[in-house]
Amino acid sequence: MAQISLSELFSQKHNPYPFYAQLREQSPLTRFHWMGTDMWLLTSYDQAATILKDPRFTMDWQKVQPARAKRNSSDEAPSSYMPLAWSKHLLNTDPPDHTRLRTLVSKAFTPRMIEQLRPRIQQLMDGFLDAVQARGEMDLVADAAVPLPIAVISDLLGIPVEDRKLFRTWTQIIVQSQGAAPGQGASGLEAEKAFVRYIKTLITDKSAHPDDSLTSQLVQVEEKGDRLSEDELISMIFLLITAGHETTVNLIANGMLALLEYPDQMRLLRADSSLLPGAVEELLRYTSPVTLSGPRWALEDVPLHGQVIHKGDMVRYALLAANTDPQQFPDPDVVDILRRENQHVAFGKGIHFCLGAPLARVEGQIAIGTLLRRLPHLRLACDPQQLTWKEGGSLRNLVSLPVTF
Ligand code: HEM
Repeated sequence: MAQISLSELFSQKHNPYPFYAQLREQSPLTRFHWMGTDMWLLTSYDQAATILKDPRFTMDWQKVQPARAKRNSSDEAPSSYMPLAWSKHLLNTDPPDHTRLRTLVSKAFTPRMIEQLRPRIQQLMDGFLDAVQARGEMDLVADAAVPLPIAVISDLLGIPVEDRKLFRTWTQIIVQSQGAAPGQGASGLEAEKAFVRYIKTLITDKSAHPDDSLTSQLVQVEEKGDRLSEDELISMIFLLITAGHETTVNLIANGMLALLEYPDQMRLLRADSSLLPGAVEELLRYTSPVTLSGPRWALEDVPLHGQVIHKGDMVRYALLAANTDPQQFPDPDVVDILRRENQHVAFGKGIHFCLGAPLARVEGQIAIGTLLRRLPHLRLACDPQQLTWKEGGSLRNLVSLPVTF
């Protein structure tokens, strides 16, 4: 059984494929150690149901707190790796709480609503390219991949343009502080507090002056007399903002990098835009913008692959490893936009399947489609080895992606 450290796991950014392949080949279940306790990583595709659908695992940390505290008296976990424990949102609840919250938010977040956003998303993307087109060069991260998802989620939630930089900064600090060593998550907590204060003001404003924003809809949404409490509203909006942009930034930036590294695939896509939806699915699979699932905790001892995952242990599912499992995907480390049977798990699986998947798909299709259509001579402006990736966290974020066109 391999034993690796969390920092080793989080440092695999530039080319994570050999690292995850090695882990998967050693064992579908790898133990790693953090803050005096065991955590487990599942790496094979066919384990998705085990962790993402098995009711013996919970996303609600508080249910296993007594078991962990008993084993480890200095268990500081909640303050550093789960800073959102103060309230309830979809990614830290189980049924029936999760079912209730998801029913309420889904009402205000339907696929029909997302489809209606297409013209606005296209207009935004065109605006970002208009601003750089004459320059002949840009940082694809800062000039296109970052601003688009931020503008889309802000538009949706009714967040004023002048405030968008603030929550981008807070989100980055929070995401990067995930997985921080004990005592080093302080900046994440400070950013979260500032973020929460901001969301409270937004909710007060939208309650007093309702408009057609998602925030106003969430304030008013009702199902059989049930509504979201103020804490739930804050938590939900926090989740939508954080889950809704950093991930999509990665789909656009890492997806474009993958196409630049596979010019034959880029040519194919340029020649036939009807391939775009399938290409975005392949880029979701290959780049896996969210590398690891959120944490789950065992509610009881669970024997698996000759090991025992003890009650209270944390388990995470390596989405990137599953998405490149050769048992499921032939030639998994190759981008093939014509790939068939592409049942990737980039958006997770089961009851926590990404609520924003339809939006992320539309944003990815519009961003990548527009870049290819408007910039026929797009080239990487540096050696891929010189690209830098943000440290920490379970996402793969490029610091920048310089291109010429
Ligand atoms: C859940 C990935 C974009 C909102 C998830 C999960 C994954 C994921 C893997 C499940 C996590 C787990 O089970 O541990 C992605 C990727 C995206 C993306 C790869 C972009 C390419 C978005 C967007 C939004 C969003 C744009 C909202 C505007 C959510 C929410 C959940 C979620 C609310 C929790 C669902 C639940 O627990 O019921 N996402 N996401 N995501 N995502 Fe996304």
